[in-house]
Amino acid sequence: MALRNIVLENDPLLRKTSRPVDEITPRIIKLLDDMAETMYYDNRGIGLAAPQVGVLRRVFVIDVGDDHGLLEFINPEIIEADGEQEYQEGCLSVPGKTAKVCRPAKVKIKAQNRNGEEFELEADGLLAVCICHENDHLNGILFTDKAVDGKIYYAEEEE
Ligand code: NI
Repeated sequence: MALRNIVLENDPLLRKTSRPVDEITPRIIKLLDDMAETMYYDNRGIGLAAPQVGVLRRVFVIDVGDDHGLLEFINPEIIEADGEQEYQEGCLSVPGKTAKVCRPAKVKIKAQNRNGEEFELEADGLLAVCICHENDHLNGILFTDKAVDGKIYYAEEEE
């Protein structure tokens, strides 16, 4: 496993649409492993999408610290969405900024795991927020695009 560099806000890569994974090769497995390591590094993140490490593939990883532990999604598709919730989001690619974003309260997502098996997952709360946030990355969308009232909050200087 290896840490990957995180692509930052103004990089045009973050605005591209990622391509589906047609075959789960050792490269994709390594990508998943590296993405998890990069997300966990320094306890910084609860989710990371492949474009954030410069790979335009429909892959993301999430660990919101609940019983699910590490979740890996390949070729994800949100197939149901219900209700609304607002959450103050941040992003490893947009350091120092947060914004309130309105997301579905509940989602159902379909994806493949690293063995190529299809699975479905129902999520609410923070996990639903995170799934929607990461899925947006695969379509070139950042949370700041969806800030409620266009309002961006700037974090205190970090040491
Ligand atoms: Ni993000």
